Amino acid sequence: MENSRSTSIIFFAYTTIVLIDSINCRDNNNNNLVTNQSALFVFGDSVFDAGNNNYIDTLPSFRSNYWPYGQTTFKFPTGRVSDGRTIPDFIAEYAWLPLIPPYLQPSNGQNQFTYGVSFASAGAGALAGTFPGMVIDLKTQLDNFKKVEELLRFKLGEAQGKRVIATAVYLFHIGVNDYQYPFSTNSSVFQSNPREIYVDFVVSNTTAVIKEVYRIGGRKFGFLNMGAYDCAPASLIIDQTKIGSCFKPVTELISLHNDKLRDGLRRLERELSGFKYALHDYHTSLSERMNNPSKYGFKEGKKACCGTGPLRGINTCGGRMGVSQSYELCENVTDYLFFDPFHLTEKAHQQIAELIWSGSTNVTEPYNLKALFELH
Ligand SMILES: *[C@@H]1O[C@H](CO)[C@@H](O)[C@H](O)[C@H]1NC(C)=O
Ligand SMILES: *[C@@H]1O[C@H](CO)[C@@H](O)[C@H](O)[C@H]1NC(C)=O
Ligand SMILES: *[C@@H]1O[C@H](CO)[C@@H](O)[C@H](O)[C@H]1NC(C)=O
Ligand SMILES: *[C@@H]1O[C@H](CO)[C@@H](O)[C@H](O)[C@H]1NC(C)=O
Ligand SMILES: *[C@@H]1O[C@H](CO)[C@@H](O)[C@H](O)[C@H]1NC(C)=O
Repeated sequence: MENSRSTSIIFFAYTTIVLIDSINCRDNNNNNLVTNQSALFVFGDSVFDAGNNNYIDTLPSFRSNYWPYGQTTFKFPTGRVSDGRTIPDFIAEYAWLPLIPPYLQPSNGQNQFTYGVSFASAGAGALAGTFPGMVIDLKTQLDNFKKVEELLRFKLGEAQGKRVIATAVYLFHIGVNDYQYPFSTNSSVFQSNPREIYVDFVVSNTTAVIKEVYRIGGRKFGFLNMGAYDCAPASLIIDQTKIGSCFKPVTELISLHNDKLRDGLRRLERELSGFKYALHDYHTSLSERMNNPSKYGFKEGKKACCGTGPLRGINTCGGRMGVSQSYELCENVTDYLFFDPFHLTEKAHQQIAELIWSGSTNVTEPYNLKALFELH
């Protein structure tokens, strides 16, 4: 009795392995991508969200799965917070990868994880206390990555799974919501700590996640420092008496953040053997475009394409608070740097993505993403 049962268990395990192997074979034959290309794993907030928030329990203001989001290129609202493609979409294209799907998309075949997946969630911050219950915070994004890593080792086998993780590029955009959140609600962590300590929390919670990805086997990382969101259309209208001036309390936080992020990454490079990264100076590239739009092919650097009120800075794009709510939509989105009061247009995303991909060391350092993808 005992013996025959254990025999049948062994037999079952054996047929399962054979089955998995034959699926792998088929994948490899169809497609060299699995063995030869670096995958792209994406972590972050609305700048990178490809639609994860469509699948979580949250408020409409944390989603963009309605018109006119997605009007360009996709021709339907995917959940990306833009008229069209985002920075990770362009990076994937330059790296010869398919579009990187959101982790929570139900139709995800397991196969897609071999090219990478996006864990990003609009509204997310590095701190769990930022928009709690509304978003997938960075720590939870890491937990989701751990599940994908296990799945890859199971599906592809230990060696191949580890190879996908080791050759992949990990792209991050996180932190700006940690600095917005305290101004939209009472945050005890923010109020009970000096500014500098709060920024330390944001940066060190971020580097803790990076270290964990490294421990699991990740080696190649990409980052954007924090853009001048204190001067985004939404921020330019906060002070009603000085419409058009940047929101100063956040200016200071962004500046501190960028210094600490740069130093933190340099420290990681010294501490972690084989850790390589690209840091794009998004603060400069975004400010340049806000201040000299025509130099970059835009007519408007400070007014949003979609929204209400001065500079269309009130975030009503798509009637997010209810279907009957009205909003203005510009005629020609390619004239605009900002699509909604806080998020860039596809055209702007493409320009920034090109700088991250192949920019020289004055804009993206010490490596650019092209160099990291080519590294094996
Ligand atoms: C892809 O990788 C396999 C195994 O490492 C190798 O045999 C093959 O030549 C590679 N193909 C390309 C196009 O690089
Ligand atoms: C924040 O707290 C103060 C008192 O501590 C209260 O007066 C104010 O209404 C609160 N603001 C919000 C947005 O909850
Ligand atoms: C993360 O931030 C919290 C504050 O939200 C802080 O208490 C904690 O120490 C931070 N963790 C790290 C690793 O810095
Ligand atoms: C939109 O603007 C771009 C650049 O200014 C121009 O090339 C294009 O023809 C315009 N499209 C329409 C439909 O007006
Ligand atoms: C960076 O260097 C390139 C040439 O290597 C130059 O064309 C570009 O203007 C520089 N950008 C900045 C922001 O200095």
